[in-house]
Amino acid sequence: MLKEIYEQPAAIADTLAGRLSEDGAVDLSDTGLGDDLLRRLRRIYIVACGTSYHAGLIASYALEQLARVPVQIEVASEFRYKDPVLDPDTLVIGITQSGETLDTLVAMRLSRAAGAPVMALTNIMGSQATRDADAVLFTRAGLEIGVAATKTHTAQVAALLLFALHLAEVRGGGAAGTAGTDMGGAGGGTRASEASAGGRPEPAELLRIGRELRRAPDLVQAYLDNHRRLDQIAERYHDQRFFLYLGRHVGYGVCLEGALKLKEISYIPTEAYAAGEMKHGPIALLDEGSPVVVVATDGPVYAKVVSNIEEVRARKADVIAVASEGNTDVDELAAAVLHVPKCDPWVSPLVAVVPLQLLAYRIARLTGCDVDQPRNLAKTVTVE
Ligand code: G6P
Repeated sequence: MLKEIYEQPAAIADTLAGRLSEDGAVDLSDTGLGDDLLRRLRRIYIVACGTSYHAGLIASYALEQLARVPVQIEVASEFRYKDPVLDPDTLVIGITQSGETLDTLVAMRLSRAAGAPVMALTNIMGSQATRDADAVLFTRAGLEIGVAATKTHTAQVAALLLFALHLAEVRGGGAAGTAGTDMGGAGGGTRASEASAGGRPEPAELLRIGRELRRAPDLVQAYLDNHRRLDQIAERYHDQRFFLYLGRHVGYGVCLEGALKLKEISYIPTEAYAAGEMKHGPIALLDEGSPVVVVATDGPVYAKVVSNIEEVRARKADVIAVASEGNTDVDELAAAVLHVPKCDPWVSPLVAVVPLQLLAYRIARLTGCDVDQPRNLAKTVTVE
């Protein structure tokens, strides 16, 4: 798992290679999806399981906000029970790194049979998903051996951001447009207002995001090379019986993924919530010193996340924040801060998830779990 966490800069770079020019323009001609279809689309369904679902959830914000297409994301195992409304103008994206997860394949087949075009996002050439799809977008993460998906997840997010930019470009950036996405800005978009509603970003803004995305491998590498405090935080909290994770906007998907990683490899119960939901129940779980991991990187919802951190502090729980370098207001409120390099908010899910993967890894090691064991085996103690 650790090796694969450290392979993420290469996995992201390889996924972007040849698809994103220096000026930020996207070329996804290798997917086989025609521009005519992309222009006439009226809706997108995303179907996936587990970590792939989290990548889809993160991407759903970009697809809706940048390309202005309504997006619905569904857990693949539930999709069929809805008898979903599908037609030739609804694109179904099946995300499955292995290309073999049956629930996702069934959802894709059902969609195709109902006349909807299906695109697979997978890491494995020749996998079943590639045969059950009309178009394929490949991640190029290399084979992932670890039980807990890491590099395939960040590669999926990178590929889906490319797709969102491409779709926005094909559908005419700025055509329905107002003032952009309110997600950008020098140094990572710290504007505190809500994301704009209804505005389609200008072509120049799409190119700017594309150029920011090109920086992702270097940003992840910078975090892997320079991170601090993880050991200390893992040491301090590894014997806690419960962790709550909170985030908003794309940070919501990141916190779901962080919570899944810890649960999956350390067997510590975790819950992840959209931070605005905390007051509707989960706050009751917090006591003095309870660890609450909050994704608080720069972005349009940053101020709201800081107010959630204040609510957590009011319960005397301990905030472990993932924050952008230089955000000192979080430093003052949190018991511990994992600083990540400043970056564009759309790129932040690729960077912010890395400390959460590493935190899960360190805690699992401290609690004696074998992080590289085959799936679903009982906890075993490793001898160093
Ligand atoms: C498994 C794993 C998850 C994974 C999910 C989907 O249950 O435990 O980590 O995300 O399957 O896998 P896929 O290959 O479809 O992305």
